[in-house]
Amino acid sequence: MTAEHNDGHEAVDRAERVWILLSALLIALFVGLVFYAVAMHGQHIAHAPARQPPERILQTAEFENPGVWRDDSGQLHASIVAQAFSFAPGEIEVPIGEEVVFRLTSRDVIHGFQIHNTTVNVELIPGEVAELRYTFSRPGRYPIICNQYCGLAHQNMIAHVRAVDPQAVDEPPDADAVPEPDAMAAGEAVYRAECLVCHQADGSGMPGVFPPLNLHMPRLLAADGGREYLIDVMLYGLVGEIRIDGQVYRGAMPPLARLNDQAIADVLNYSLHAWDNAPLTADAPAYEADEVAARRGRGLSPADMLGARNELALD
Ligand code: CUA
Repeated sequence: MTAEHNDGHEAVDRAERVWILLSALLIALFVGLVFYAVAMHGQHIAHAPARQPPERILQTAEFENPGVWRDDSGQLHASIVAQAFSFAPGEIEVPIGEEVVFRLTSRDVIHGFQIHNTTVNVELIPGEVAELRYTFSRPGRYPIICNQYCGLAHQNMIAHVRAVDPQAVDEPPDADAVPEPDAMAAGEAVYRAECLVCHQADGSGMPGVFPPLNLHMPRLLAADGGREYLIDVMLYGLVGEIRIDGQVYRGAMPPLARLNDQAIADVLNYSLHAWDNAPLTADAPAYEADEVAARRGRGLSPADMLGARNELALD
């Protein structure tokens, strides 16, 4: 071997050594970042206390009626169900400075659950309950987003946590406080979470599948029995073919009885007064929560609602 050849050989070895060293440093950096996040930012792995068939989990009291609750020891919990393409409930309110145990599951496919500006970021798997703890330190309205692609309307999957200062509730709002949304904004929030995916932001629906709400809801409201029908269709859903102006729609409306009375009243009032509906419904009295409450418990099925729909005399 010549000296020249040896030099060339050594040079390759040196380059390899540098690359191996760089790779090792990168791995050390990543592991270090994990420890840094754990130590400095309170990151931890969510654990899964329950692994069962999804239907079984959804039938438990906390997920049948998801929301914020306290157990016997006074510990605050937030049980939330993710589903294509919304979170139930669409908005929760928690106090700042108190630890919240989030208990989360998915109704259908894998979804993400990330609360903006917090360390809460977890994957929700059907048949599992993910549990993690978080204490909000600043009041505000924190968006919850799904960060796992879960289908066509994945990007509409959004909900909110309102973290409020329990001491500041009765004081006039300052720049940091959360403004109490007016009725129209509250209705719009419900609409975005529950209705927009199918009926669209402008209420135009989807040809052949989901009927338009724009210009159509005022006609339902004006029909004999239509005012009650609109509440019932929210509570009990609707399946089967319906016809509007010669167009056929075959999509199913899911029952939304899990929404509270006020949310249903708000979203009806919002959609009756949004888009081009406003001038048509100016004289109609707004829906009230107790009007919704009075329509509950009738045990109607989505198929029954098709019959109710077909009995409405629309002009
Ligand atoms: Cu759920 Cu993306």
